[in-house]
Amino acid sequence: MSKKFTITAALPYANGPLHLGHVAGVYLPADIFNRFAKMMGDDVLFVCGSDEHGAAITLRAKKEGISPQEIVDKYHEVIKNAFENFQIEFDIFHRTSAPIHHETASEWFSKLEANGKFTKQVSEQYFDEEHQQFLADRYITGECPKCHNPSAYGDQCEKCGSSLSPTELIHPKSTLSGATPILKETTHWYLPMDQHEDWLKDWIKDGKLDGVQQHDPKNWRNQVVGQCMSWIDGGLQPRAMTRDLDWGVKVPIEGGEGKVLYVWLDAPIGYVSATKQWCLDNNKNWEDYWTGDRELVHFIGKDNIVFHCVIFPILLKEYGGLVLPNNVPASEFLNLEGDKFSTSRNWAVWLHEYIQDHPEKVDELKYTLTAIAPESKDSEFTWKEFQARVNNELADILGNFVNRALVLTNKYYEGAIPERGELTAEDQALLDTIKSTKEKVENLMYRFKIREAQAEVMNLARAGNKYLADNEPWKLVKEDPKRVETIMNLAVEVTANLSVLLFPFLPKSANKIAGFLNIDNQEWAKVGQENLVSAGNKINKPEILFQKIDEDFVEAELAKLEASKEVELNYDPVKDEISFDDFVKMDIRIGEIVAAEKVKKANKLLQLQVDLGFETRTIVSGIAEHYKPEDIIGKKVTVLLNLAPRKIRGVESNGMILMSENPDGELSFVSPEKDMVNGAGVR
Ligand code: MF3
Ligand code: ZN
Repeated sequence: MSKKFTITAALPYANGPLHLGHVAGVYLPADIFNRFAKMMGDDVLFVCGSDEHGAAITLRAKKEGISPQEIVDKYHEVIKNAFENFQIEFDIFHRTSAPIHHETASEWFSKLEANGKFTKQVSEQYFDEEHQQFLADRYITGECPKCHNPSAYGDQCEKCGSSLSPTELIHPKSTLSGATPILKETTHWYLPMDQHEDWLKDWIKDGKLDGVQQHDPKNWRNQVVGQCMSWIDGGLQPRAMTRDLDWGVKVPIEGGEGKVLYVWLDAPIGYVSATKQWCLDNNKNWEDYWTGDRELVHFIGKDNIVFHCVIFPILLKEYGGLVLPNNVPASEFLNLEGDKFSTSRNWAVWLHEYIQDHPEKVDELKYTLTAIAPESKDSEFTWKEFQARVNNELADILGNFVNRALVLTNKYYEGAIPERGELTAEDQALLDTIKSTKEKVENLMYRFKIREAQAEVMNLARAGNKYLADNEPWKLVKEDPKRVETIMNLAVEVTANLSVLLFPFLPKSANKIAGFLNIDNQEWAKVGQENLVSAGNKINKPEILFQKIDEDFVEAELAKLEASKEVELNYDPVKDEISFDDFVKMDIRIGEIVAAEKVKKANKLLQLQVDLGFETRTIVSGIAEHYKPEDIIGKKVTVLLNLAPRKIRGVESNGMILMSENPDGELSFVSPEKDMVNGAGVR
């Protein structure tokens, strides 16, 4: 019985290009599932688009010195082209800046608000005085109260996945100025998530909504259910659904002037507006894709779980009449060569750059990323492994098998598929493997175990390869040509089935194989039916499917990574070990700068008077290029007291001010985090 799916892939922020981590975790598995389900004859719609609102966009615009509109226009194109070139084929790749999206998100907000689904609250929120702006989401960072990640955002900690509010952050700082913000009153609309805990629990843990079974919770990934349950058990908080910003979907009701919808309210509605646009273009009703027995499936990364399993489901339910997600196959993270992917450190392989450099190696990358997909735990991409997967699996097994099957058929029978004679037990086993592979792949795919599904298809190629190696038709052809006809008939049969089974994973290679055989490979049901090819059919001359990857390729890629990393900070090596006795020889204390002046004819030096409580000392410090004398009076600093006195430019310096230095040369005082008394010891 065919199923109905609406498949979504997380809308990427249009604030930068995509890297392999995004592809392996979200877009590639979604694309594979979409292709598979369509081949099964399921009724499938696959939507995506760019997420063009929120602080991710405005902060990026500020950094690049261009407008938010220019940012989203630029990266929407970059991302869209990369998907097309990598053969990730959505039915529609939309954008949240489109008018139909603004209308849809507005309509949702108005309806939810009219039906009393939000609460309106005045509260004190962080405000950057210098920039005259309220700070929410990525505009504010601080320490996560749950996992103590020092750079959590105001709405979320990407390390532990917790959803946060700015006032929960420890040591909050404005992203705009770096300053500690002040609190100021403002009014917002809140989603009272605390009121939804009970039904969410039943729905996530048991798959039940209002007592009706919606999905089989056993099919959800453990870590998805686990994360959600731990948040819900920890208690959900009301969450602001509006922001004091001017970039986004305007709050469409009275009192909403100068405010926009929270990006995580509008973005998932982007799945709906993309559906609407596609339906307009294709003469369909969008409701058909969001109601009834539709299975809604969200492909996302683990940092998006709370939004797709808690917040959006609440909105869907409260909007009314729409389906809730049937499954949310969230991925863990992919690492790169021993380290996390990092945009700021430029530690990444960018999809559009890979395609530019290796346009002919799309399937090689797809295969490797699926083979190492971080479905249930974090995994790692290395160029060495890429080489090994391509050479030992794609080239030596799949490529070798297909090539032998087709080359020998051309050689012995001028390209006409030979007749099949009597089957041995081994022959029958090979044909059975085709059927069992089909069943296994179907089972795995519908449970979103895409990595294992690909491995099963590869096992069929492995079985075919072994069949030829064991039977050695190239030796047998002289003494038993009749038997060789059967062997080659079966080898071509397996090849034909592979062209169908491989299509979801490696569309380009699958189509090439189908082309060699002059067959149609789009119908999944044909697998194992023995009517894909027939004796007498003509085949074409094959080409090599996969070129091997040599050492130079790997080295060049590693060198590229290292070179782009150069913008990264270079840290000093760790110094030799010292004993505790060595350490306590240093007398380090807190002091207060009470006077400061430039040292004559020395650009870099300031002469400071430092109050240590029991005395005030003169210290010369090389910070004149970083601080103005008048700006540092009253600063509490850390001082090394028992450094031997030194005359510097005629002034005797009695100690040293300790400074922290960034690898790029920026200096900062090491100031106590509380107001300590002058002379307080440091150890
Ligand atoms: N832009 C978000 C991210 O990259 C994902 C948005 S998914 C959607 O993390 F549901 F909001 F669309
Ligand atoms: Zn955290």
